[in-house]
Amino acid sequence: MDSKFKRHLVTAALPYANGAVHIGHLAGVYVPADIYCRYLRMRGQDVRFICGSDEHGVPITIKARQNNCTPQEIVDKYHYIIKDSFERLGISFDIYSRTSSKIHHKTASEFFKRLYDQGNFIEKESEQYYDQETGQFLADRYITGTCPKCSAENAYGDQCEKCGSTLSPTELINPKSTLSGNTPVMKKTSHWYLPLDQYEPWLKKWILEQHKEWKVNVYGQCKSWLDGGLQPRAVSRDLDWGVPVPVDGAQGKVLYVWFDAPIGYISNTIELMPEGWEKWWKSEDTKLVHFIGKDNIVFHCIVFPSMLKAYGDGFILPENVPANEFLNLEGNKISTSRNWAVWLHEYLDEFPGKEDVLRYVLCANAPETKDNDFTWKDFQTRNNSELVGIFGNFVNRAVVLTHKYFGGVVPATNQTEETDNEILNAIPSIRKNIENNLETYHFREALKEAMNLARLGNKYLTETEPWKLAKTDMDRVATILNVSLQICANLAIAFEPFLPHTTSKLKEILNLDTTRWEEFGKKSILESGHKLNEAKLLFEKIEDSQIEFQINKLNATKESNDAAGHAANKTGDSGAPATLAPQKEECTFDQFMNMDIRTATVLEAERVPKTDKLLKLTIDTGLDIRTIVSGIAEYYSAQEMVGKQICILANLAPRKIKGIESKGMILMASEQNGKMKIVTPEERLQNGASIG
Ligand code: 2FM
Ligand code: ZN
Repeated sequence: MDSKFKRHLVTAALPYANGAVHIGHLAGVYVPADIYCRYLRMRGQDVRFICGSDEHGVPITIKARQNNCTPQEIVDKYHYIIKDSFERLGISFDIYSRTSSKIHHKTASEFFKRLYDQGNFIEKESEQYYDQETGQFLADRYITGTCPKCSAENAYGDQCEKCGSTLSPTELINPKSTLSGNTPVMKKTSHWYLPLDQYEPWLKKWILEQHKEWKVNVYGQCKSWLDGGLQPRAVSRDLDWGVPVPVDGAQGKVLYVWFDAPIGYISNTIELMPEGWEKWWKSEDTKLVHFIGKDNIVFHCIVFPSMLKAYGDGFILPENVPANEFLNLEGNKISTSRNWAVWLHEYLDEFPGKEDVLRYVLCANAPETKDNDFTWKDFQTRNNSELVGIFGNFVNRAVVLTHKYFGGVVPATNQTEETDNEILNAIPSIRKNIENNLETYHFREALKEAMNLARLGNKYLTETEPWKLAKTDMDRVATILNVSLQICANLAIAFEPFLPHTTSKLKEILNLDTTRWEEFGKKSILESGHKLNEAKLLFEKIEDSQIEFQINKLNATKESNDAAGHAANKTGDSGAPATLAPQKEECTFDQFMNMDIRTATVLEAERVPKTDKLLKLTIDTGLDIRTIVSGIAEYYSAQEMVGKQICILANLAPRKIKGIESKGMILMASEQNGKMKIVTPEERLQNGASIG
């Protein structure tokens, strides 16, 4: 254990309260951070684990507009969903607060004021995009356009989600307001900037020379920012949601969300410890560690440290910033707007009592060094083969056999043999490996080591076969079961940071009130004569039907995204497009002529079973009678569709949707409010009339 520090301040990125938490957030940030804190607490360290909702910024106001409600209503809703689901998963924050709290507003406001008074900002007038229809400046996600780096459409004013580039609104090609769909105009406005360029030499020394031990992805990203040269960054915005800029004449301006959010770590600490918070933030004895996702690296390694440095007054800097890469889901990028995610609150409802299975799988498969994929099949295999088949099976056999042969009382050891000593002697080195890995943020490896101990135990029982020896050599059976139970007790310690629900159950079975890390490796945690409680299964098998249910759920999402076609990428969480889609890239006359668009009439329509959005339509195209599966059930009932004349893209390559071959696509117009309408000819025409 690093004895340089007296206390550990651990923060986990504050999630935006504009949606629920999904497995990507968990694997990237919250599961590893929780394992780390639980481990430190077991080592007797003084730890505070700080988190809360990030409740400002444009994503929240956009969500509120989409839902026709206030930003406060949005953050109230999601703050409690997020807080509750974290608690149920066993994420052991010491505080989970929120940045709309009074104390945060006060702290962030005073922080800004001090930098302002010290002259740490540059005030600058510049021309920024402005939507004349709504009378609003278009910060960050209020503006979209084509990405100048990768040409993706719909890149935001602050970032392109396709290539991950950080952008500024003026870099976007063909910019459009997401409020009105209009092309914005330029208008003068004044803002405060943190001159990051002034901190560059100091940052280079601090990170590039003094923190070579940071993870390769973190160090590499910092190096590339620093090598590219830092620019002053605006720390205010023209918005009406956020912490007001505490300066005379700054009406209508708030702190930029990325200025106030990291200060949330400080204000939440103050809320937790109004008296003693300062020693946690201003003493060299504190080890500060930020757990974040890779998209947050620049803010935590460059911007926030520069803010702290500018503030002075003894604020410490992070010792480490262990950022993970991203977790994908079934081969695709997790996407909130496309609902391509496993949502924590849904998982907890659908898999009651299986909190630790998710914790296990997300840690075993954590995207520590590269993006990784979560699949439901892998989830099932890891549960059934590893948790049930190895860990659960071993513990159950040891406890059941002790009840059977010794009335549930830990038997005394007799003469030990080489195989007993081998396994008992392996435990201290497993402990050391777990410690080294946890202390260097290698959580997957640490978990693998813990599982190896269960694996060794399972192998030991299988090889020593006490159930056979019971007929001839009860002394030997006693020794084997004593050794096995000591391994069980060691497992209860080893797994506690990773699987806290399971280890509570295991401690109950072993009739152990507490487990202490110092005992990890001991050969006699359970005294002979100690009475066990009854055996219970630690884990249950996950059936194929449960996995099929989840896969079907994702397939339904995929199909309705596919069927909604063009709209799928652009819809927000409510299913409503945030804006008019910008014009697509030019196509040639020939490309257009290749599209065979025709009139057709719907002969029959029925809902595709077990889907919300899909209708199966039998249509007369004039050329043939064919089937099209379309995601229009949200807008039209089956009855309404029968008899309607529609327009179709007739020569779209056939594809299977929900096992039904769909030939063609219905043309639909999507309005700004998210509603979609079929496109019909002004008058009824013959079926098969060419459109073009
Ligand atoms: O990326 C995000 O979800 C941000 N809300 C993280 C903020 S972390 C901190 F600075 F508050
Ligand atoms: Zn891009």
